[in-house]
Amino acid sequence: MKVLGFESSCDETGVALVETRPGGVPRLLAEALYSQVDMHAAYGGVVPELASRDHIRRVLPLARQVMAQAGFGLAEVDLIAYTRGPGLAGALLVGAGVAVALAAALGKPALGIHHLEGHLLSPFLATAEEGGAPEFPFIALLVSGGHTQLMQVEGVGRYTLLGETIDDAAGEAFDKSAKLMGLGYPGGPALSRLAEGGNPAAFALPRPLLHSGDLDFSFAGLKTAVMTQHRKLGPAPGPQPLADLAASTQAAIVDVLVAKALKALKTTGARRLVVAGGVGANRRLREQLNAGAARLRARVHYPPLALCTDNGAMIALAAALRLQHGLAEGQTEGAFDVRPR
Ligand code: KG4
Ligand code: ZN
Repeated sequence: MKVLGFESSCDETGVALVETRPGGVPRLLAEALYSQVDMHAAYGGVVPELASRDHIRRVLPLARQVMAQAGFGLAEVDLIAYTRGPGLAGALLVGAGVAVALAAALGKPALGIHHLEGHLLSPFLATAEEGGAPEFPFIALLVSGGHTQLMQVEGVGRYTLLGETIDDAAGEAFDKSAKLMGLGYPGGPALSRLAEGGNPAAFALPRPLLHSGDLDFSFAGLKTAVMTQHRKLGPAPGPQPLADLAASTQAAIVDVLVAKALKALKTTGARRLVVAGGVGANRRLREQLNAGAARLRARVHYPPLALCTDNGAMIALAAALRLQHGLAEGQTEGAFDVRPR
């Protein structure tokens, strides 16, 4: 079965085609992605109305590109998937509208997918060189610009929330800290680059909820502490103090993420950890998770680096896995919905 997937929840338009394989992990046939990051950078964040309009401009050319790469026609597609939410309502409506209209025109079913399920299952697209697909059960650490969650995953569609952020997401902590240091948007990657040349112990920053005993996170207080330290550096901080502050900020965020992810492995006895979402690209996070998991004789799985951030492949994949596991129920019949929250 061939699944065409659309992602348009935030500032990337993604389209991809995935094929199920009997008894195996679905295979990525073609994908195309357009990032609006440069457009939103001028405003220091995503402007929802501009995001929706740009999705409209990009989505059909991207779909044509994917079908051209695949080398066969839309008539051979069995299911059309789209991100139902969470995300920006107007942006979601573009992908959902196109997907459901296409499905109706082709007489094929359409399936709405939860954006986080896409992230959570994205490591199944890892090639053998990239560590291969994980086996169930596993613990998933979802760390993106909008979410920070630890989930226990028993199988496709069988997810239990173990803990989550009570305020800001980890990516938000990276982005907001980066913004106040003047690093632009989205600042996570820029902050982690600057941190390479800094001392992570230079500033004493809080590790919120580190010893809370549960698996929840909190990053709002950290951002305030970073702001206070940044102010103390004066109006024109030198490059080294700024690099030190970046390194200290990154260390504080990573310390908490690593401690809680390892705690989740310990308390559940799971031997596999899946890390997904944009922050999963962070090098320090990867190094410390790998080292910590090895001490617990557990393995860490990551999606291919290009699939850490939002993309259509993870949405097509999640739909293909649902289809394979008999979970493609709730298929829309003419009507469709998006769930921003
Ligand atoms: O998953 P994603 O693309 O979009 C959401 O669904 O939110 O994640 C984007 C987030 C942003 O906050 C970005 O700053 C962060 O991931 N990010 C990073 C890195 N690469 C992306 N944060 C820290 N280090 C990185 N290398
Ligand atoms: Zn995402």
